Amino acid sequence: MTQQISLKLKQITMYNFEYKNPVKIIFGKDTISNVANEVPKNAKILLTYGGGSIKKNGVYDQVMNALKGDNLLEFGGIEVNPHYETCMKAVELVKNEKIDFLLSVGGGSVLDATKFIAAAALYKNGDPWDILVKRGKVDDAIPVGAVLTLPATGSEMNGNSVITRISTLEKMAFSSPKVMPQFSILDPECVFTLPDKQVANGIVDAFVHVMEQYLTFDVNSPVQDRFAESILITLIEEGPKVLANRKDYDAAANFMWSATMALNGLIGAGVPQDWTTHGIGHELTAFHGIDHARTLAIVLPGVMNIKRQSKKDKLLQYGKRIWGITEGTDDEKIDASIAKTVEFFESVGLPTTLLAYNVTKVSVNKIVNRFEKRGNKLGEKADIGFQEIEQILKDRL
Ligand code: NZQ
Ligand code: ZN
Repeated sequence: MTQQISLKLKQITMYNFEYKNPVKIIFGKDTISNVANEVPKNAKILLTYGGGSIKKNGVYDQVMNALKGDNLLEFGGIEVNPHYETCMKAVELVKNEKIDFLLSVGGGSVLDATKFIAAAALYKNGDPWDILVKRGKVDDAIPVGAVLTLPATGSEMNGNSVITRISTLEKMAFSSPKVMPQFSILDPECVFTLPDKQVANGIVDAFVHVMEQYLTFDVNSPVQDRFAESILITLIEEGPKVLANRKDYDAAANFMWSATMALNGLIGAGVPQDWTTHGIGHELTAFHGIDHARTLAIVLPGVMNIKRQSKKDKLLQYGKRIWGITEGTDDEKIDASIAKTVEFFESVGLPTTLLAYNVTKVSVNKIVNRFEKRGNKLGEKADIGFQEIEQILKDRL
């Protein structure tokens, strides 16, 4: 009994934490030209970008006009789910040209690649791939700045980066304060040129970032909970407005700021975090090339279903505060919350089953085997091993 009480007491206390976020955010209409004031004077800059969207929507021209006269080189062609192989080509260029500032102009993929390039170029402890697979410590990195063109990942205000090695079909993440951008420019008008698919992906990615840090167990953290809930509700209200009218500046601005707030460390400070959905989702992208957010829309309902006991209190809170679910038994309320989540993802255009992507049992087994080999466990209680992952994925077939 005493042990039970002390365990309970232990569980309801917010964790100790340190929080520092040095990223300068420059937010709003016509802010891209501010890049000129932010890049260091006399620096040799490498501008990194993706497949060319910035050249079609005017962002490239805005940046180039602002940086007229600066010492600037370019590295384009960074893929969606950026490739390690491509990043290493940029690392070579950075070393040969003695680049001392990296300016990422694009979405999360370009920024993640740029962060990895920044760390890999100065990595002295062996093969830069170790940064991703062996959690190799990043002692130093070339400073990074960002002009963000797609709200989704939160990469603009965090130290995370996710890189794919094509030769082995592995998608791995690393995190270091050294690669947090010095500044990130967020002009919501960049949303105006996004295709529906990218808007929908962004809404769901941000939504699931919040869920990974919220849908765990209670540690008596009402500030973090209510911040998290405000982001979820904003995404539910503003996301569809962006989809309906791409030129709705107010909706675009609220969507953009929601995505940043969802993963800048604030709502996750002092609380348990899950990240199972992302862990499994990365494998679906690695093996099947499914867009990041789309993998999350598939996996999250499975995690909610399979972990309904250990996440019960938060699932009920989520159902009540986000969807107004108050009727029925606990299980019925949880079922209704999962159904509402699925309905929301599908309403913005993201399918929520593996079948929709022709992913079969054979593929599920391949993913499960990979987790079995790795041997690590996922989840806020580190209790999701390969058997639970199999249950979660079979729930979504
Ligand atoms: O490559 P370009 O030509 O620039 O086109 C991109 C790309 O095709 C296009 N796009 C971007 N801004 C646009 C635009 N098209 C028109 N108008 C604009 N304003 O959109 C496409 C997708 O871009 P991408 O950068 O791949 O999308 P997103 O920002 O969703 O990034 C996804 C990547 O971020 C990782 C994901 O795993 C994935 O690799 N994540 C990074 C995180 C982080 N750093 O904290 C956390 C996330 O959980 C996520 O894992
Ligand atoms: Zn994500």
